[in-house]
Amino acid sequence: MHYRLYSPRDFDSLYAIEEMCFEARFRFSRKYMRELVSHSNTVTWFAGKDGRMGGFAIAEWARGASGAIGYIQTIEVAPDRRKQGIGRELLRRIEDSARAASAEAIWLHVHAENAPAIRLYEANGYVREGREEDYYAPGHAALIYGKPLEPELAN
Ligand SMILES: CC(C)(COP(=O)(O)OP(=O)(O)OC[C@H]1O[C@@H](n2cnc3c(N)ncnc32)[C@H](O)[C@@H]1OP(=O)(O)O)[C@@H](O)C(=O)NCCC(=O)NCCS
Repeated sequence: MHYRLYSPRDFDSLYAIEEMCFEARFRFSRKYMRELVSHSNTVTWFAGKDGRMGGFAIAEWARGASGAIGYIQTIEVAPDRRKQGIGRELLRRIEDSARAASAEAIWLHVHAENAPAIRLYEANGYVREGREEDYYAPGHAALIYGKPLEPELAN
């Protein structure tokens, strides 16, 4: 598997993975996804092999009065590529990108019943900070997880 930053020609492969990972009512629309990946304060990492996309992850960051904070929009791995460490590597890369943009912490929403994603986050140092009822749809709560990001070590 190789990892690189997203480029606009990856969009159709990226959206095909979105369609494989989520049923229609929980998907980002094509329009929203296109806007998301083209923001200047967003990073999208791509995982691929043999010319095929295996997964991607999107994080963004915002600067506030008390410093910058990152937010994970999504991490998605094609069903036949799961359980090979791709999710963990994508997570590590978006954290590094957020840290490089001076983010001091990173947070996310995850569906309260998304056990594989919750395991991935908890295994990588994320701590549950809250719950938002009806976040995705009526009866579909989100859990909020966060993690402090240690500053980059100077060389
Ligand atoms: C959540 C998701 C991104 C995880 O991706 P992944 O590539 O399977 O993640 P990893 O391989 O890093 O880790 C998943 C599991 O595989 C195991 N694993 C990692 N490398 C492995 C290997 N070489 N051999 C066997 N198992 C391995 C991990 O230990 C982990 O086990 P666990 O789930 O029992 O804790 C993936 O399930 C997914 O795309 N889900 C649908 C989209 C989604 O819900 N995204 C989250 C949005 S918030």
